[in-house]
Amino acid sequence: MSDRTNGLAMEPFPARLEDRIETILGRYPRTGSALVPILQLIQEDAGFVSVRAQEQVAARLRIPAAFVAGVVSFYTMIRDRKIGKYHLQVCGTLSCCLRGSEPLLDHLKDRLGIREGETSRDGKYTLSTVECLGSCGTAPVVQINDEYYEDMSPEKIEGVLEGLKD
Ligand code: FES
Repeated sequence: MSDRTNGLAMEPFPARLEDRIETILGRYPRTGSALVPILQLIQEDAGFVSVRAQEQVAARLRIPAAFVAGVVSFYTMIRDRKIGKYHLQVCGTLSCCLRGSEPLLDHLKDRLGIREGETSRDGKYTLSTVECLGSCGTAPVVQINDEYYEDMSPEKIEGVLEGLKD
């Protein structure tokens, strides 16, 4: 199948995704409304949503590629590049900041040899700062992949890092 939409060639998605994309599209009366769920599906499959994949989605949903790119850049949980096996997200909002997230972040930078937004050379860690994770009562909080690690300190995060499998 080949079609052109928004000036972009509409390429099929891998077969393993096609049925799931059709199911998602079936839930919405307007195809554009399926954008975020489809981006989440692609990220679940590939680990991130490449520029090429964004263009494929735009063509499939018949919306501008710039709009898709805007959505990807707006939502921090949607990534446009490959990240490490472990994504360490340090909350930098007020409660966590008052309870030591900055020294915690500095410790992680030194320990992992990377700055915010970077991935370690071995592909194991990506370090990010994020806004409030909604767990202010147990600040400071670090989210690693889908898990929260609360009331963290440089000493405690060392134990957490040692428990992460290679
Ligand atoms: S300020 Fe860090 S979880 Fe709310």
